[in-house]
Amino acid sequence: MDYNAFVEEKIGEIRKTVGDEVAINALSGGVDSSVVAVLGHRALGDRQRTFFVDSALMREGEPEEVKGVFAEMGVAVELVDARADFLDALAGLTDPEEKRNAVTNTFYRRVFADLVRKTGAKYLLHGTILTDIEETVAGIKRQHNILAQMGIDPEQEYGYRVLEPLATLRKDGVREVAKVLGFPAKVVERIPFPGPALAARIVGEVTEQRLATVRAATTIVEEELGDSGAFQYLAVLLEDKATGIRNGQREFGQLIVVRCIDSVDARTATPVELPWETLHRICGRITSLEGVNRCLYDLTPKPPATIEYV
Ligand code: XMP
Repeated sequence: MDYNAFVEEKIGEIRKTVGDEVAINALSGGVDSSVVAVLGHRALGDRQRTFFVDSALMREGEPEEVKGVFAEMGVAVELVDARADFLDALAGLTDPEEKRNAVTNTFYRRVFADLVRKTGAKYLLHGTILTDIEETVAGIKRQHNILAQMGIDPEQEYGYRVLEPLATLRKDGVREVAKVLGFPAKVVERIPFPGPALAARIVGEVTEQRLATVRAATTIVEEELGDSGAFQYLAVLLEDKATGIRNGQREFGQLIVVRCIDSVDARTATPVELPWETLHRICGRITSLEGVNRCLYDLTPKPPATIEYV
């Protein structure tokens, strides 16, 4: 595939569709939304407003990092604080699909609808990729960003139209487009991170405290496995608890699962055979987090598992 031609074609399409109107897009910091932001910016210039939504579900330091990268790319990013909206919507939910649904609704019904009202935008540019669509259609998982395939008409439902310029690509293709657009290697090679963010990595209820735990574990895993060359690595907080000992006292503590997988396009995945030394180091750091007394390494390929836990 000629990715230069793809870029030109998509810029042309966005320009033609949006015309003289305004479009918005929301960055998560991942490669998909980053690519869409730059395509939109090249197509529309100032008529494209790019937002970073702080959903309370992001990783450590993510807003600053995203702003820095886009400043280098010449795209201004506006920060939106929607932490309370997401935490309220997720409170009390434990069912995985209900949690995904709550994240979707908060993004589309509250945050994006609000931004559309404020900016007068008619379009939302979205980083949906082919794998997201396929998995939703197959009924495996409701990816948070899929609308049309779920029978939702965004214009009727939320008051704006959704453009998905990457809907024919998988992750490997998006990375090629990111290279063509001149993104730095740290963005092109950024490991995938799901739309529902850390909410996809908490089994059971999402609370600020549980987010803090999984966020700290995520930082450790990303630091330790940053050089692993793996497709994706992550930490998951389970709902179960287990007995352990801390400072000579019995502790009924939390469990963190570490996952590190190889994959080409996320449709299938195999666990990476990490050195014991690395696993022990990760385990030591994770079990030093408050209230976490077990760390497990997940050996399950996809299928039968999926990559994320929620
Ligand atoms: P699963 O867990 O389905 O994940 O094996 C496949 C790939 O997709 C990422 N993922 C998502 N990406 N929105 C996204 O944009 C989502 O709702 C979503 N859920 C999972 C996941 O991290 C993996 O790379």
